[in-house]
Amino acid sequence: MAIYKNVRQLHEEERPSGKFMETISEYLSSDHHRCDDLFALAEELAGDGKWERTATEFGAFLESMRHHFAMEEEVLFPTFEERTGMSMGPTQIMRMEHQQMRGLFDAMAQAVEKRDQDDFLGQAETLLVLMQQHNLKEEQILYHMADQVLGGEARDVIARLRAVA
Ligand SMILES: [Fe+2]
Ligand SMILES: [Fe+2]
Repeated sequence: MAIYKNVRQLHEEERPSGKFMETISEYLSSDHHRCDDLFALAEELAGDGKWERTATEFGAFLESMRHHFAMEEEVLFPTFEERTGMSMGPTQIMRMEHQQMRGLFDAMAQAVEKRDQDDFLGQAETLLVLMQQHNLKEEQILYHMADQVLGGEARDVIARLRAVA
């Protein structure tokens, strides 16, 4: 787990300062891109059969996704639901898709352990499609709705997003 912690700290430093990230949409969309870059790197390394580095970078990707989902599930979704009264709407679908992705994370982690390239790359392809569609829905719909609905509270929400461990 030590390696995850180090990667984590690195990302804390890389995370945007907040000064120029004033909307929820910008803040969380840029985090999507950070996760996407880690995913692409892990996929490339697995494609080259570099398993030790794949394990490290895939671990960093998993940690980033865990943190991203936590920001949404612990802060954004409940706040959005509270303000809109929409608890069975888009946030519920997003939660279900997170669960689907968690299933793929587990399958991919097993493939890394077994160094099974076909399995890993096959799961990665499925995950990429799911993740792209999910992120697009959030970026084009949910985050924008959140910015509108939460408006003046956005700064406070971003501060709470930043506080998520
Ligand atoms: Fe999400
Ligand atoms: Fe997201």
